[in-house]
Amino acid sequence: MEGSTGHEDLEIRVEGLDSEIARPRLPGRVVARHCTDELLDAVAFDLLVHAANCTREFGDFHLALSGGRTPLPLYERLMYDPRFRAFPWRRTHLWVVDERCVPFEDERSNFARLKETIVDHSDIPPEQVHPMLAAMPDAAARYERELREALGWRAKGHDRLDFVLLGMGADGHTASIFPGSPALDSPERLAMDVPAPTTASPAVPRCTLTMRAINAARFVAALVTGADKADMLVRVAEGASPAEVPIAGVRPAAGELRWFLDAAACGAAKM
Ligand code: 6PG
Repeated sequence: MEGSTGHEDLEIRVEGLDSEIARPRLPGRVVARHCTDELLDAVAFDLLVHAANCTREFGDFHLALSGGRTPLPLYERLMYDPRFRAFPWRRTHLWVVDERCVPFEDERSNFARLKETIVDHSDIPPEQVHPMLAAMPDAAARYERELREALGWRAKGHDRLDFVLLGMGADGHTASIFPGSPALDSPERLAMDVPAPTTASPAVPRCTLTMRAINAARFVAALVTGADKADMLVRVAEGASPAEVPIAGVRPAAGELRWFLDAAACGAAKM
């Protein structure tokens, strides 16, 4: 749009001071909070509501979680905060959005973080925990098979991930889908082995859910914090191409996209 700054006009919300945050005009709904604690609460409550709805409707909940540092306090909160004690871990299948090609003992392993924050402290049955064995040959093909098998018993249309939590790198990547990645537009594949990125660290090969798998999900949450991500969000708001800014390709076909942003990521100084 001519003259657009990529930000919405200020909007008054009666329940708090977050009204002052000018949010980037992103596809989907944008939840913005000054306080990181409140932002994490907002994601955690959405997660709880979706988990409860899905277990009621399908008997289980298929959740895919990202690595990176941003969501770690969220994962900890889900485990220690009594308000989330009712989370139905016993009925949850835990998937990994992407994995770095390193052994699980390596501190850069995304699954290692999920294991120490969630798996080791929940009653999730081991057969419902689905690490990506990224260091093995054909990791993506194996993961795709596992996904199709686990979701296969559901009625057509419901055989998809229920909740995918994404992050965004300062280069606009999400999952391990980097600029120009073949995982952006693979019409059939749900997971892909991809080479080491040149625009982000760690520079090791990865395995990732594809954009097709992400866009098939029932609910996609993108949790993005920090001033170093603000410019990239403006590019998404201004209609950047997914080939250049991969997260711009997140457009769930029959699902919902919700962004969870702090004021810094919205380009606003903290008040
Ligand atoms: C990964 C991720 C990746 C991550 C972003 C943001 O394994 O690297 O899943 O997509 O979400 O790079 O990472 P930060 O939260 O550390 O900024």
